[in-house]
Amino acid sequence: MRNTILAIESSCDDTSASVINDGKIMSNIISSQIDHAKFGGVVPEIASRAHQKNIVFTVDKALNDAKVFKNDLSAIAFTIGPGLLGSLLVGSSFSKSMAFALKIPLLAVNHLKAHALSHMIDNPNSKFPYLSLLVSGGHTQIILVKSYSCMEIVGETKDDAVGEAFDKSAKILGLEYPGGPLLDKLAQKGNSQKYKFSKTKVSDLDFSFSGIKTSFLYFINDQLKINKNFIVDNLEDIAASIQKSLVDMLMEKIILASIKYKISEISISGGVAANSLLRKTIKTHSKEMNWKIYLPKIEYCTDNAAMIAYYAYFMYKEKLFSNYEITPEPRLKF
Ligand code: KG4
Ligand code: ZN
Repeated sequence: MRNTILAIESSCDDTSASVINDGKIMSNIISSQIDHAKFGGVVPEIASRAHQKNIVFTVDKALNDAKVFKNDLSAIAFTIGPGLLGSLLVGSSFSKSMAFALKIPLLAVNHLKAHALSHMIDNPNSKFPYLSLLVSGGHTQIILVKSYSCMEIVGETKDDAVGEAFDKSAKILGLEYPGGPLLDKLAQKGNSQKYKFSKTKVSDLDFSFSGIKTSFLYFINDQLKINKNFIVDNLEDIAASIQKSLVDMLMEKIILASIKYKISEISISGGVAANSLLRKTIKTHSKEMNWKIYLPKIEYCTDNAAMIAYYAYFMYKEKLFSNYEITPEPRLKF
């Protein structure tokens, strides 16, 4: 079997492995770690130990699901960064060992570039240039994607990532980590117009989420002084209102970016791209703005090895191989 790549993603708290053959995803296994919930966030040491525990069976399952034997592989790809050092080291060491043993090339993939191309897994003929709104627990960026390899950040957060703002708001409401998906679920039954929160204005295409986070915290504390059951009594409306504010902040900047760069092909990526209100709002705007939009499948929004495999396939065709001296880059940019 030719052009068959095994890709491994281990940048944060999900161990994932995927097999791609001639640009088609054959399997995508994601082993999520649940041990972080009781700590209210990802604990780096727990994450790297869990990767050690999960990586062999995750890779084994990805190969089995794809009906591929190790000796069929043409290359091994892994996430080089950005991410947690201990977590990245597990994926890179495993990948190097496997590539060395099988005598096949090694491909080091930038996690952010892979997110920005993730919609192409199901839309391989989508055109460049486009704008990608990359929204996750660690990043909030607007990326001008000119080609597979040429990408430019045209706007980004000055403080917290929007995923962090979702998770911290959820934590204030007493929801378990990661609270983003839980907030989304509650918000679907709530009134999003009920509460308003003040936002920090940031120039041009940049974002800031620290102001709204503080305003939300003060609002909840003030209300609890009046009614100690305020959260329980109004949970769905509070969730809907904070979610709407966060989504509006994202929409405002992607609309500005589309006007500034005269680009009407828009994609979203990263964990927060799974948010139901963001997906719905961007669809509504696409009609008003005449946008062509690309919304990746939910399993390709949150961290996954399929997007690493997809980017690796492009690198493989271009022969962009790595040597064995390469080491993880926790703060890698574009
Ligand atoms: O891309 P991702 O899996 O990991 C990185 O941060 O790289 O993104 C995780 C983030 C978390 O903050 C999580 O709460 C958020 O994505 N998230 C959501 C939803 N699903 C995941 N936020 C809002 N609504 C969702 N449905
Ligand atoms: Zn990510």
